[in-house]
Amino acid sequence: MADQNSVESMSLAINGAKESAMSAIKNTADLAGLRALSADLNKKDSPLNSFKSEMGKLSSVDDKRSIGQLLNAAAGEIAAALETRTREFADNEIAARIEQESLDLTEFLVQRRRGHSHIVTQATQRLEDVFIGLGFQIAEGPEVETDFHNFEALNMPKSHPARSEFDTMFLEYGEPNSVLLRTHTSPVQIRVMKTWKPPIYAIMPGRVFRRDTPDATHMPVFHQIEGLVIDRGITFAHLAGTIEAFTKAFFGNEFTSRLRPSFFPFTEPSAEFDIRRADGEWIELGGCGMVHPNVLISGGIDPEEFSGFAFGFGIDRMAKERHKVEDIREMYTNDLRFLRQF
Ligand code: PHE
Repeated sequence: MADQNSVESMSLAINGAKESAMSAIKNTADLAGLRALSADLNKKDSPLNSFKSEMGKLSSVDDKRSIGQLLNAAAGEIAAALETRTREFADNEIAARIEQESLDLTEFLVQRRRGHSHIVTQATQRLEDVFIGLGFQIAEGPEVETDFHNFEALNMPKSHPARSEFDTMFLEYGEPNSVLLRTHTSPVQIRVMKTWKPPIYAIMPGRVFRRDTPDATHMPVFHQIEGLVIDRGITFAHLAGTIEAFTKAFFGNEFTSRLRPSFFPFTEPSAEFDIRRADGEWIELGGCGMVHPNVLISGGIDPEEFSGFAFGFGIDRMAKERHKVEDIREMYTNDLRFLRQF
């Protein structure tokens, strides 16, 4: 009887101890708390474990078995609850870490303003495209030139009056007035003749320099594109045909070109070439002519075997015309409000 009583009260006490263990598990705040609780529950003298020695004192085998089963079930439930809670904490911790370590990339989706090429660069690239389409190759030369390449080799000896038309900027380097900022792209003709073998079909874009005061139509630094063709049997008709083909390809079929007699020391005969807009207005574009025999000789080419033509014109003026820019200086002030228009 006494045993029966103690079995009942033991069962109640075991359930009570189990319930308080379960609610303690539920109330733990973090993984560390849970580990401490789990260690407490597994101690030999923990409330539930102490029932094991109590159980040993029971005389009835049946009672021992039922209390033993009750204890095992309680221990199983507690172990399962501990495991579930541990996993919960682990999941939460991972979620929290992901949250904390994640990067907010939304700012990279914001539309950025992209830059673009300057209108002179755009014009240069289009000119290159058109001439490449006509079978030309691109060549480049240095901006700092020798008097020889810029003048002498182009049939302008020291005393030549045409030299004064080029307001030249000289460098303080070597013999006085022997090194300069090139005043045109024509010196590249000499460099190409000396390094390439005919047939030569070349264009030479680049920056040139003249001692000019900036105004609406002049800059001391501007851009030219030079053309040079050297082959057997080249005539003035090839020059005129090339200028006309270029005019139509670059400006459009409604444009035509004309040549007017002119003078350059490095070409003979020489001409200025103009283009006519659809509205009938003529625009001066540049100079051209048949390469002077003296220039061919400077370039190491036999004028008895080969002949050729050359042309040169300003790129900035073309960009100015095309985009209806009032004042050429505006193209070089780097004002974004201006530049973004094109
Ligand atoms: N170099 C000349 C200039 O700057 C242009 C030109 C080039 C003329 C080639 C004839 C032939 O004015």
